[in-house]
Amino acid sequence: MSALVDVLPNLRCTICGDGLTLEDRQVRCGNAHTFDIARQGYLNLAVGSAAGGTGDSAAMVHARADFLTGGFYRPIADAIVGATTDVTDTRLVVDLGGGTGYYLALVLDAVPAAHGVCLDRSTAALRQAARAHPNGAAVGCDVWRGIPLIDASADVVLDVFAPRNADEIRRVLSPTGRLIVVTPTARHLTEIIEPLGMLSVDEHKTSRLEAGLTGFTPLSTRTVEYELELDRRSTRDLVLMGPAAWHASAEEIEQRVGELHRPIRVTASVDITVVRVDS
Ligand SMILES: C[S@@+](CC[C@H](N)C(=O)[O-])C[C@H]1O[C@@H](n2cnc3c(N)ncnc32)[C@H](O)[C@@H]1O
Repeated sequence: MSALVDVLPNLRCTICGDGLTLEDRQVRCGNAHTFDIARQGYLNLAVGSAAGGTGDSAAMVHARADFLTGGFYRPIADAIVGATTDVTDTRLVVDLGGGTGYYLALVLDAVPAAHGVCLDRSTAALRQAARAHPNGAAVGCDVWRGIPLIDASADVVLDVFAPRNADEIRRVLSPTGRLIVVTPTARHLTEIIEPLGMLSVDEHKTSRLEAGLTGFTPLSTRTVEYELELDRRSTRDLVLMGPAAWHASAEEIEQRVGELHRPIRVTASVDITVVRVDS
């Protein structure tokens, strides 16, 4: 709750864009639009059909939390943290589609003077993100309908395997700020995509990323690639936390995982792209 108080001056009403103030367990704008703070500590600024929160299901979020706690994506997190270090005087870090708040928390550990906001549409994710870090707040919204931040307020925006509303990111990122985008390469998880019925990364994703980032100046791209050795449970979590979970039952996934040869060796491969707003 205290992190929410700290970041509130940077947030804005998702209905009218006005500033927000805290009143008891609600947040209100100057035009009397009110939003609830959930018992679990997150603020829900989502409106319309997004207000009930869809995004990742509770089962997907729990699988993601378990997988990330296992440290399997820690090299990716370390590279993200490394990419934030050349941003001076970071006060606000925003994690778009931030899920459990795993990456945001590690960035906030490295920049103790900063506060963070994890934005997500999934209430299950927001519950986890609200307790991911003492300096991190969790706020519900649909990023495709707009990012509920005032102009030029974010020093760092993280977008890790998450939806990317480029026009809105350009609006909320400060002129000296950085957007850090993490996207899977065509080699990511390639060994298990077919046997486990996961969605493959199409080869044109990189050029699509570049095309989708007009109005930004590229600063660097780094590929982080390494081999993961997974047990049965972490392999199951890896599938259950992704889009394949929408197309197969947990039992089907469990069965497919059981048919894999052990040890299960998988390539993790992502591009970490850093850009800033065109000057
Ligand atoms: C693949 S997960 C990545 C989560 C986190 N960045 C990570 O890597 O651990 C995508 C996240 O985006 C959220 N999401 C999907 N659509 C969204 C939307 N329109 N607005 C906000 N969040 C959304 C999902 O609920 C989910 O938590």
